[in-house]
Amino acid sequence: MKIAVLGSGMVGNTIATKLVQLGHQVMMGSRTAKSAAGQEWLCSVGGKAQIGTFADAAALGESVFDCTNGANSLTALRAVGANNLRGKVLINVGNPLDFSKGMPTLTVCNTDSLGEQLQREFPEALVVKALNTVNCEVMVKPSLVPGDHNLFICGNDQGAKAKVNRWLCDWFGWKSENIIDLGDISGARGMEMWMPIWLRLYGKIGHPHFNLRLSIGSK
Ligand SMILES: NC(=O)c1ccc[n+]([C@@H]2O[C@H](COP(=O)([O-])OP(=O)(O)OC[C@H]3O[C@@H](n4cnc5c(N)ncnc54)[C@H](OP(=O)(O)O)[C@@H]3O)[C@@H](O)[C@H]2O)c1
Repeated sequence: MKIAVLGSGMVGNTIATKLVQLGHQVMMGSRTAKSAAGQEWLCSVGGKAQIGTFADAAALGESVFDCTNGANSLTALRAVGANNLRGKVLINVGNPLDFSKGMPTLTVCNTDSLGEQLQREFPEALVVKALNTVNCEVMVKPSLVPGDHNLFICGNDQGAKAKVNRWLCDWFGWKSENIIDLGDISGARGMEMWMPIWLRLYGKIGHPHFNLRLSIGSK
């Protein structure tokens, strides 16, 4: 499959590398066509992929992983343009975190979310929020955390969510029954507001290979 991975940070890197290993045709997008981080990544996968601008990558991709910096994702996606996203599944992985004032805070929360902002800005894209609640190594290798543990997805389009569920299982090794559908894209509020707890747990545990497991009792 032709897949765009927008973002040259550790998340884009990890997801794009896994997709290349699986044999997909991947283009990593950055603000500039030949970013240093993009070129370094391309070398790391033995040149078996492409790099370009955010728009170049999204134009090539049949589906798009948005792994841009969450506080700047709207800017990054505006550079992509609506035409390059129309009708495509847009998997929004970022968290809208502002690190400028010490302990990170969310740039949007409670009554809105990054996932919703993107869906409003690009009404013809099929935005699915996914993977943002776990570390990037866990995203593509859930077995780093022992036992069953959960992932959330949400989005307005059932078909898009079904595809994402299948990709997460087939490509990354998640169990379908461990992926919890939180409903429409407003479910992104809770998924993004998980971040303050995740960051606290990271400080306490000392490494990022952990996740939550939902235990549901009877009524
Ligand atoms: N680290 C994890 O394990 C993890 C787990 C879950 C979710 N997340 C979230 O995933 C997102 C990506 O994280 P990351 O650490 O991989 O990368 P990051 O450093 O947060 O973001 C890197 C990407 O954002 C782009 N970017 C930065 N500032 C921009 C701006 N002003 N305008 C447009 N684009 C801009 C960069 O473009 P260039 O390529 O041009 O530099 C780069 O592609 C974040 O929101 C993070 O909170 C991270």
